[in-house]
Amino acid sequence: MFLLLAMVVLTLGVWAGAAQEQNSCLICHSEIKVDYLESVHTGFGVTCIDCHGGDPMTLEMQKAHALEAFFRGTPQRTEIPELCASCHSDPVKMKPYGLRTDQYAEYQTSQHGKLLAQGDTRVAVCTDCHTAHRILPAWEPRSTTHPENISQTCAQCHSQRDQSVHSAALAQGNTKAPTCATCHGVHGAAPPGVADVSKACGMCHIAERTHFEASPHKKPMDEQSIPECVSCHGSHSIEPPDRKLFDMVCTRCHSASSKEQLVGQKIKTLLVAADESLREATQLLEQAQQRAVDVSAYRSRLIEARSYFLQALPVQHSLDIVHIEELTRRAKSIADDVRGGLHSLQGVFTVRLLGLTLVWIFLLLVIVVISLVLRERQGERL
Ligand code: HEC
Ligand code: HEC
Ligand code: HEC
Ligand code: HEC
Ligand code: HEC
Ligand code: HEC
Ligand code: HEC
Ligand code: HEC
Ligand code: HEC
Repeated sequence: MFLLLAMVVLTLGVWAGAAQEQNSCLICHSEIKVDYLESVHTGFGVTCIDCHGGDPMTLEMQKAHALEAFFRGTPQRTEIPELCASCHSDPVKMKPYGLRTDQYAEYQTSQHGKLLAQGDTRVAVCTDCHTAHRILPAWEPRSTTHPENISQTCAQCHSQRDQSVHSAALAQGNTKAPTCATCHGVHGAAPPGVADVSKACGMCHIAERTHFEASPHKKPMDEQSIPECVSCHGSHSIEPPDRKLFDMVCTRCHSASSKEQLVGQKIKTLLVAADESLREATQLLEQAQQRAVDVSAYRSRLIEARSYFLQALPVQHSLDIVHIEELTRRAKSIADDVRGGLHSLQGVFTVRLLGLTLVWIFLLLVIVVISLVLRERQGERL
């Protein structure tokens, strides 16, 4: 067994050595070799000469770099997308790997691609996001395109920082939260199937989108080209919901005394009231549980109440007061019920506690009296 393993290792070593010896580029360019050997391209036979040309069989620099050997030197930034596309946009070359072939086509629709076509070389080309020599698939944690690293990759050139709920969620390991590339599209101007980046939110927040689309906001906002979700939430500093938005955001477009602002305040009041009742009920439940009281019936009712409340959250985007009132009323009335029940349980508990204390005081008194009597008798005997 060990012998077999040793032989396999030896054979692989010789084979790898031979393959490397054939590529003289690696001998002189040892720094690039380190990156290159880590990259996905190495494993699939993409070599230095595929991108640079040259003669990999000689150790003489002049011959290795000879024009007759089609040596191209370092590609210009403007040439790089086409260079990568020479394989990645070719369905025949990519077929064995099942990779998509639309990266270059998409890239040309992005602001990066459009500006590059106009000769602006400050924009991102393929190698700015993927590197030239240490190209790794996005699932590989060390990859510059891995979700955890992507914001740093963009930050080479952009000062935008994602300071929103999303980056906090990403930092906590929530892989469902968007990175820069999820909202902006990986290669294109926007993610596939999304008209522009301001509509990217609806890819994930489907319930919010559905209710927004049914709201009186949808049509006028589209007609006046007001970005939908972003005009209230922003894009890079989206905050967790704490009902503050109702006070801050509606007055951007409606006057402070308008009926629209009033609608906002009504929705806020309904949500806050239900939320508070739920919170108090939950607190009482936990207290009761600590005293080993059986609260399982209350627990399942609270779960029901919470589910009505959670339903109401996306529905707020419809601005349909009747619907929101119905859901929050259900949530609140169940939570109020539970609170009532737990309060009276607490009452019973207090009475029991009082009774128990009285019994203890009585017992203590009896013990004191008995011991006094005993001591007196002992005194009498002496
Ligand atoms: C004998 C050593 C040697 C070999 C073999 C060699 N190179 Fe080089 N290469 C160099 C040195 C030294 C430089 C930097 C000097 C220069 O710019 O000419 C360089 C520069 C380069 C550059 C940058 C040139 C530019 O104009 O920006 C590229 C690209 C390159 N080599 C690719 C290759 C490839 C591909 C191979 C294999 C086919 C190869 N080299 C083989 C030594 C070598
Ligand atoms: C997938 C295409 C590709 C492969 C494979 C590739 N290169 Fe490059 N290389 C590039 C591009 C593109 C640049 C331009 C610099 C950049 O954008 O980072 C470059 C730059 C260079 C440079 C000059 C700049 C620098 O980083 O020092 C050298 C030297 C070089 N490559 C050598 C090599 C050698 C040696 C190999 C094989 C081990 C190799 N390259 C494999 C695409 C490639
Ligand atoms: C000679 C053909 C060829 C060229 C040129 C080429 N690639 Fe590749 N590339 C491949 C092959 C083959 C694979 C391996 C397919 C796989 O990963 O299953 C690959 C894989 C990749 C992957 C990983 C895909 C994944 O998720 O599995 C990325 C990213 C990539 N290449 C980017 C580039 C970039 C950027 C350039 C230009 C600097 C480039 N490639 C140039 C052939 C090429
Ligand atoms: C602005 C950054 C950026 C630029 C520019 C860029 N890419 Fe990508 N690319 C990414 C990211 C991020 C991913 C990972 C997508 C994912 O998570 O699935 C990716 C994935 C890929 C893949 C893997 C297959 C796929 O489509 O998911 C290939 C191949 C690829 N890119 C090639 C290219 C080529 C070729 C170019 C230039 C025409 C290019 N990329 C330009 C960021 C970029
Ligand atoms: C090599 C530098 C570089 C990298 C890396 C880079 N960009 Fe860019 N990007 C630019 C430049 C330059 C512009 C054009 C800016 C301008 O027109 O003011 C641009 C434009 C954009 C725009 C359009 C802005 C607008 O006003 O329309 C978006 C969106 C964008 N980049 C997102 C990204 C994302 C997301 C990433 C990472 C996945 C990224 N960029 C990586 C340089 C870069
Ligand atoms: C949740 C989605 C989302 C995420 C994540 C996101 N963006 Fe944006 N970004 C947007 C939207 C939407 C806009 C358009 C802003 C507007 O219309 O007000 C935008 C605008 C931009 C612009 C154009 C200039 C500007 O500020 O208006 C750049 C550049 C940009 N984002 C880069 C980035 C970078 C870099 C990251 C990652 C650190 C990132 N974005 C993360 C949604 C997102
Ligand atoms: C790739 C999917 C995705 C996209 C695209 C996306 N989000 Fe999110 N969003 C999430 C995830 C995941 C969370 C975290 C949920 C949680 O913590 O419960 C989140 C959280 C939120 C929250 C806080 C909700 C809460 O209960 O804490 C708001 C508000 C939000 N996103 C708004 C937006 C807006 C506005 C956009 C577009 C600019 C957007 N999202 C784009 C996935 C996405
Ligand atoms: C007219 C303003 C407005 C628009 C437009 C808007 N929202 Fe909201 N959104 C709000 C308000 C107000 C809240 C409650 C926030 C709070 O409690 O602070 C909210 C809450 C949310 C939440 C968190 C739900 C919760 O309370 O747990 C998400 C997720 C969300 N919105 C996504 C979206 C998406 C996706 C879109 C676009 C389809 C969108 N919003 C459009 C105003 C808006
Ligand atoms: C970015 C601008 C914008 C913001 C922010 C905004 N609205 Fe509106 N709202 C509109 C537009 C445009 C209309 C269409 C009627 C109009 O032109 O006044 C509208 C209409 C409405 C209507 C329907 C009025 C009717 O007569 O049918 C209600 C209700 C409403 N908004 C409530 C709100 C609330 C509540 C908020 C805050 C959570 C809010 N709006 C935030 C732009 C906005």
